[in-house]
Amino acid sequence: MPNLPPYQYTGPVDCTIPPDPSKLKGKSVIVTGGMLSSICIKYLPDQCIGANGMGETTVRKFAAAGAFITIADLNVERGEQVARELAPNAQFVKCNIVNWDEQVQVFEAAIANSPNKSCDIVIANAGISRASGDSLWPLDDINAPPVKPTLSIVDVNLTGTLYTWKLAVHYFRKQPDTEDRDRCFIITGSMVAWIDSPANWQYTCTKYALRGLMRVARRNSWEQGIRINYVAPCYIKSAIRSPTYEAELIGKGVEFAPQEDVAKCFMRVATDRTMNGHSLMITPASIAKEGFKDVDMDDHTEGYFKDTQELQLRIIEDQWVEGWSKGRTPEGGLKS
Ligand SMILES: NC(=O)c1ccc[n+]([C@@H]2O[C@H](COP(=O)([O-])OP(=O)(O)OC[C@H]3O[C@@H](n4cnc5c(N)ncnc54)[C@H](O)[C@@H]3O)[C@@H](O)[C@H]2O)c1
Repeated sequence: MPNLPPYQYTGPVDCTIPPDPSKLKGKSVIVTGGMLSSICIKYLPDQCIGANGMGETTVRKFAAAGAFITIADLNVERGEQVARELAPNAQFVKCNIVNWDEQVQVFEAAIANSPNKSCDIVIANAGISRASGDSLWPLDDINAPPVKPTLSIVDVNLTGTLYTWKLAVHYFRKQPDTEDRDRCFIITGSMVAWIDSPANWQYTCTKYALRGLMRVARRNSWEQGIRINYVAPCYIKSAIRSPTYEAELIGKGVEFAPQEDVAKCFMRVATDRTMNGHSLMITPASIAKEGFKDVDMDDHTEGYFKDTQELQLRIIEDQWVEGWSKGRTPEGGLKS
């Protein structure tokens, strides 16, 4: 398996180093949510013609670099169209990421049909937002019985992505054990994991939670040769907003970043095998000319939090290796 060192904070990644697309040649890449939102197609059809979601932009860039992409999305029409266009570098598998069995099919197809029968890079990108309706947020009529909320944003963004993670770990570990294979997991997060976005309750919970997954997993993922990173788009130009709304946001001071910068950031992570345990934010060019920067807020460098983190690492001795649980009691304590 890839030989990775234990996670250690070494400061922010140098994002001025450009990605090397040649490293993607022959890699098998799964992108969930690799198409354009059906919400966009349904409600803003005129503006969606020729428009890409950031997943689709990524699929196109990775395929152009010689990777084999398995697109996992609900959007059959668009997915099949793009897969046909990019053949033989892409295939489409219809998948609702909330459905475990459908995700298993995605991973099986990625391995069966990729040139090296592998699964090297998984981009867990599928997600829905407040635009899909956050039924946790609206106030109930206090004279009527309380209304049980649907938690579909949690189901997709969190449960679906945890399924993707579980399957990625399984199939990464079945990789041919050769130097040219990778085990790279990238989560599409959001700036709301750092910036408060009022009324965005479920979405914020899920993107925080996924940042938490990255932080906790990086402590052991190297033991299985797996690296995990979090990519957080800020305000991204997207066909999901009407031009009027976009202009209104620009008037309020929003600087949009292009979808290409998200794809470039994914590519930087996917092609740099030293990167593990980082959060990168897609920013406007006025903040970082590369279009993204290391958030550098996932580590403690001094004081109580640093000391407590180090203590926790000494207390929790679990290793992510076969058979480790055998050394523990059912309650989780170490067997004497
Ligand atoms: N656009 C932004 O400004 C922005 C900002 C921060 C984070 N993000 C995140 O980026 C990711 C991609 O968003 P986007 O802006 O490209 O939106 P988008 O709506 O264009 O793309 C999302 C894709 O996910 C797919 N999808 C939705 N639910 C799915 C499910 N259950 N199973 C499989 N596929 C599903 C959709 O069909 C679509 O192709 C999401 O995780 C989103 O939260 C976007």
